[in-house]
Amino acid sequence: MHFPARFRVGSGVAFSAMKFAILGSGTGSNAEAILKAYRAGTLGDAEPVAIFCDIPGAKILEHGKAYGVPAVQLDPGPFKTKFSPEREAAWAQAIKDSGAEWIVLAGFMRVLKAPLLEAFPNRIINLHPSLLPSFQGLDGIGQAWRYGVAVSGCTVHFVNAELDRGAIIDQAVVRREKTDTQETFAQKIHAQEHKILPDVIRRISLGEVVL
Ligand code: GRF
Repeated sequence: MHFPARFRVGSGVAFSAMKFAILGSGTGSNAEAILKAYRAGTLGDAEPVAIFCDIPGAKILEHGKAYGVPAVQLDPGPFKTKFSPEREAAWAQAIKDSGAEWIVLAGFMRVLKAPLLEAFPNRIINLHPSLLPSFQGLDGIGQAWRYGVAVSGCTVHFVNAELDRGAIIDQAVVRREKTDTQETFAQKIHAQEHKILPDVIRRISLGEVVL
């Protein structure tokens, strides 16, 4: 039986959970995988405390409702792939206010800059749908597919100021079979994402990941 970390005591010292916020822009299947793992008690000492989304009406917001985790859409500012500096500072404050100490980017389609990076130094991880450093940037699956690779996969890495270049924490490999279409190839990569992202969160919460 898994008890949330805050209820556990070891050697007379109360553990405190790794509280984290999930940031996403789309369907939120990875957010759902994380919330499922938390509910199943397989997320170690990690606790999702909030979901933040930049796209009004995105499906990721529904997962928050379904799992009882507050989920809100916040204005990112007028740009498409980044925040305005003022809005990024407001996001950082809102995420802090949620009690989160870590940020998990799960399908979040904006580049992070100083306001968030400095508010959560070395405490932001991202999921990318390719074997980094190959196929950085947008549409990692389509890029790999069009290149004709025999294997691709997904990567979880720390986020720093260089896009998709932070230290790699884990990767999973997916082989492209002759019978694959781009769609089935993508489905297999997503299935691996749903495994490695919750597992990395669990490992970080247990102190098993060192930058
Ligand atoms: C994932 O493939 C992730 O790697 C990429 O965006 C997708 C998000 O999917 N950055 P979802 O919103 O978690 O379903």
